[in-house]
Amino acid sequence: MEIRAVSATPQTWSGDALVLSMYSGELSPQLQDLDRERLGGTLQELIAEQKFKGDVNTSVSGRVGTGSQIKKVMLIGLGEPAKANTDNWRKAAAQATKWANQAKVKTLALHFPLFNADAELTAQVVTEGVLLASHQDKRFKSKSEEEDKNEPTLETIELLESNAQAGIDRGRLVCEGVILARELVSAPANVVTPAKLAETAQEIAQAHPDRFALEILEREQCQALGMGAFLGVSQASDLPPKFIHLTYKQGENPVKVAIVGKGLTFDSGGLNLKTGGSGIEMMKIDMAGAAAALGCAHTIGALQPQNLEVHFIIAACENMISGRAMHPGDILTAANGKTIEVNNTDAEGRLTLADALVFADRLEPKAIVDLATLTGACIVALGEGIGGLWATDDELAQRLEQSAKAAGEKFWRMPLEEAYWEGMKSPIADCKNAGGRYGGAITAALFLKQFVEKTTAWAHLDVAGPVWTEKESGYNNSGGTGYPVRTLVNWVLSMAS
Ligand code: BES
Ligand code: MN
Ligand code: ZN
Repeated sequence: MEIRAVSATPQTWSGDALVLSMYSGELSPQLQDLDRERLGGTLQELIAEQKFKGDVNTSVSGRVGTGSQIKKVMLIGLGEPAKANTDNWRKAAAQATKWANQAKVKTLALHFPLFNADAELTAQVVTEGVLLASHQDKRFKSKSEEEDKNEPTLETIELLESNAQAGIDRGRLVCEGVILARELVSAPANVVTPAKLAETAQEIAQAHPDRFALEILEREQCQALGMGAFLGVSQASDLPPKFIHLTYKQGENPVKVAIVGKGLTFDSGGLNLKTGGSGIEMMKIDMAGAAAALGCAHTIGALQPQNLEVHFIIAACENMISGRAMHPGDILTAANGKTIEVNNTDAEGRLTLADALVFADRLEPKAIVDLATLTGACIVALGEGIGGLWATDDELAQRLEQSAKAAGEKFWRMPLEEAYWEGMKSPIADCKNAGGRYGGAITAALFLKQFVEKTTAWAHLDVAGPVWTEKESGYNNSGGTGYPVRTLVNWVLSMAS
């Protein structure tokens, strides 16, 4: 499917379907003229019929009378101008795309007001809405006739009155990263293994050998680095662990940052086995942090920002059971020498992240951001649509909040309440890996903080809720959402300037 910026206007364009948009209120004089001159009054009819007011996420659509150069028309509401945000543009573009495919449209035109007078940003977010809504994951379905009938029909989409092809191209590269993350998350644990994550990192590096360096540490190398926490989690699996260190570098004196992603390709819980009703069958998603890190790496590699050195770090393994499994109560030693009493083998993500964070910390970056499907408690606190954000540095927190807002991804800042560390103390080791039931997302964050010793700006994103959706909505179809690739890309780009 091609997306292009064209100078044509709604008055001059012709093709299968035209999508117009408006803020809340009355139809503008321009649209009234267009309706009269080219659409045979279809818009006014639809508006009257449906009592359409231009509210956000609402639309009317219909067929234009025969003989017109435009066969179908849709009008989408963008809501109050004062409440405008780019995500409404993404969702509107998604709505248009889904409608057009259902209506068997091949050539589609989109006409949107400029967001903040920024033509490139407008083109970018519209492109994101189109491409993310179009992405359907059929990798694991054999082809049936029913499927064939529902094949998307769209061939070309033109953004009217636009010269912002650069915004379209950027949106496309962002979506490649989001879709890479979605497909890694949606694929089952017998497909996406630690080795598969390592291979994916290799593909990203090979696409731009001038920009990336890749190091995959095998079990023995991790042992030599003292990564006892990571290796403890991995030890029951028949699949070898892979410690992935992918580095993007451009420029002479680059700003150095690190992104650490939780990479559990399956989390059975270990001997504290996830039992009925715990969602064990969903635990293929426990590498969504790693998937987002790789998605971000893909997009950053393609966008090629200057003066940046970005370290993508993933301690990839499975949390399984076998005669070799860690016992509840085992004591592990992390790479920084800290000892951990494993009072719950299902609090495994933080163990793998401990060694990954120590590794990141030793690189002495300006900031570290980790992202992890870390706790069910975070989903209890914030629901499925919002990620938790913890940070030791206000500037980093604000930068991430801004990046997320622009990305249309939601985060809520949570406290690093030191008093709660009390519940993580162990009589026999430096700390335990799990605290009590209350404040479980916070104690998990406090645990991670023990392994960031030198870097003053560290943030932890708990994305257990938003990386997956059962129901399609907006530009997300059911399955992995690719969260929070867009936030990460925005954040990384913001660090270069
Ligand atoms: N991977 C899970 C967290 C999770 C839950 C992710 C639901 C996605 C959806 C994590 O490893 C885990 O099991 N956490 C435990 C921690 C507890 C044992 C302290 C939890 O949240 O119950
Ligand atoms: Mn677990
Ligand atoms: Zn887990």
